[in-house]
Amino acid sequence: MMKILVTGSNGQLGRELRRLFEKDADTETVVVYADVDTLDITDRKAVEAFLRQGEFTHIINCAAYTAVDKAEEDKALCNAINAEGPGNLARLAEELGYKIIHISTDYVFDGTSHRPLTESDKPSPLGVYGTTKRRGETALLGLAPDSVIIRTAGLYSPFGHNFVKTMLSLALEGRKQVRVVYDQIGAPTSARDLAAAIYSVLGSNKWKGGIYHYSNEGVCSWYDVAREIFDNLPDGVKSPELVPILSSEYAAPAARPLYGVLDHSRIRATYDISIPHWRHSLKRDLPEILNSLKTSAS
Ligand SMILES: NC(=O)c1ccc[n+]([C@@H]2O[C@H](COP(=O)([O-])OP(=O)(O)OC[C@H]3O[C@@H](n4cnc5c(N)ncnc54)[C@H](OP(=O)(O)O)[C@@H]3O)[C@@H](O)[C@H]2O)c1
Repeated sequence: MMKILVTGSNGQLGRELRRLFEKDADTETVVVYADVDTLDITDRKAVEAFLRQGEFTHIINCAAYTAVDKAEEDKALCNAINAEGPGNLARLAEELGYKIIHISTDYVFDGTSHRPLTESDKPSPLGVYGTTKRRGETALLGLAPDSVIIRTAGLYSPFGHNFVKTMLSLALEGRKQVRVVYDQIGAPTSARDLAAAIYSVLGSNKWKGGIYHYSNEGVCSWYDVAREIFDNLPDGVKSPELVPILSSEYAAPAARPLYGVLDHSRIRATYDISIPHWRHSLKRDLPEILNSLKTSAS
């Protein structure tokens, strides 16, 4: 019998988890969904009351401050959510014997590597978001060392805001030209695939605390992702001209790592997970993301 708390459950990953649990979970599994309105993970007292009362077996922490550029000006709130929040959960979870799955990011690295990043590579975040996410990892592993931390990259889904939705929206509104960076290398991640990986970890009976890397397979730039999206537009939607640019030309407030390819060997070997290629997952997910945009526009 598992009783799972999903925090930040209205976000991209939270909603994919909900969809998966509602479809696949057995009757022995109870899932409680909370978001900031019902459980603010920065509120230590509220976390304590919620966790003590809940009698959970697991917590999946999907709550996060994810606005990477805004974070540069919003340091305190970003730190409270990404660093102190996981600490609040960890303190109680360790005392009460709940297991935590927490999500982190490739932005804990500075992007200077030239080979896929392993869990033992040294983090060196560039901006506020990455710095606070790294603090969250350290807090969690210090207070609840048996936690599973999954670092991911470039999440997209039909929910919330993400690169794939932005590109599709620009094409749908008839934008003539779109400029996209081609010097940030990694692989995007379907939140649906990440949810399935989390589900496998939970169901595996092979729990092993520590850090794991998970993104979709393959290596590409954001330019390549945009190219794939524009090459798969539905009939009647014209592809914008796609112009490759450097990150320095885009001049975003927060610096991004130029190289964020994650080595997945550890999660594959430990939990027997097979990871789809980013192109395969993107093609599978595009029709639903397109529908979500049409529905929200009507
Ligand atoms: N998105 C990416 O590209 C990406 C890449 C790498 C790693 N990740 C990591 O993956 C995880 C899931 O990301 P995501 O894209 O699903 O994030 P998301 O869509 O931004 O969802 C985060 C959720 O957390 C909620 N939240 C914010 N403050 C909270 C608080 N104090 N207490 C409880 N909930 C709170 C948000 O509510 P509001 O919307 O109301 O604020 C939102 O529902 C995060 O840990 C993120 O850092 C994401």
